[in-house]
Amino acid sequence: MGFFSFLFKSEKNEVPLSEPIEVDMHSHFLPGIDDGATNLEESLALLKKFEERGYKKIITTPHIIQDLYQNTPETILPVLAKVQEALAESGSKLILQAAAEYFIDDTFIAMLDNDEKLLTLKDNYVLVETGFINEPAYLREVLFKMRLKGYQPVFAHPERYLYLQTKKEKVEEIFHSGVLLQLNTMSLGGYYGLPALKLAEWMIEQEFVHFLGSDCHRVRHLEPLEKAYQSKAFKKLRDYPLLNNTLL
Ligand SMILES: [Fe+2]
Repeated sequence: MGFFSFLFKSEKNEVPLSEPIEVDMHSHFLPGIDDGATNLEESLALLKKFEERGYKKIITTPHIIQDLYQNTPETILPVLAKVQEALAESGSKLILQAAAEYFIDDTFIAMLDNDEKLLTLKDNYVLVETGFINEPAYLREVLFKMRLKGYQPVFAHPERYLYLQTKKEKVEEIFHSGVLLQLNTMSLGGYYGLPALKLAEWMIEQEFVHFLGSDCHRVRHLEPLEKAYQSKAFKKLRDYPLLNNTLL
């Protein structure tokens, strides 16, 4: 633009942040089966908001946690079908799919041992989480076993775990073991506190981040998500090689 560029200066400042991420791969949008959306109306309101934000595809991930949310394909897929139908009826073009967020516990290990088919984000990608305070004694073994069974572990929100916030080198170790790492968008706006923001920023600097996920549960998350989109840390991700859009 050169010579004329000064003419566009004020206009340039008004250009909104372009949203390069078209696929969200971590959320709780299926009503009534975990601590996410409570009814169909809330599901549709959340999905509509994501579509307005520029998302083309949502892979929603209900919790599977023993003693808490004993979801299976049989509890997830019929609800998915109902929401998909209502979404299409509403005139939305958004693609909605479902996988799961597996909590690493005895039930999950038994599923692996029994070769039960896991719900995947795409191909062999499986989203897993752990408790927030202590590292499970068998974490490395389980992640390794997943790979042996042909799955690609995608580790949800490492920046939120106290056992990683206090030991960054463990994040590095997990990264180098071939596990894919997913940051929560809201961490970038400080929603989970300063230690999570700091670890998220460090992971971005180190290029340890593969996916960004909203982990949106309810309508009350929309405001902190919006705040995160405006954050410095989020803007740093504009030219970052995220894998989100490979799931389209
Ligand atoms: Fe989640």
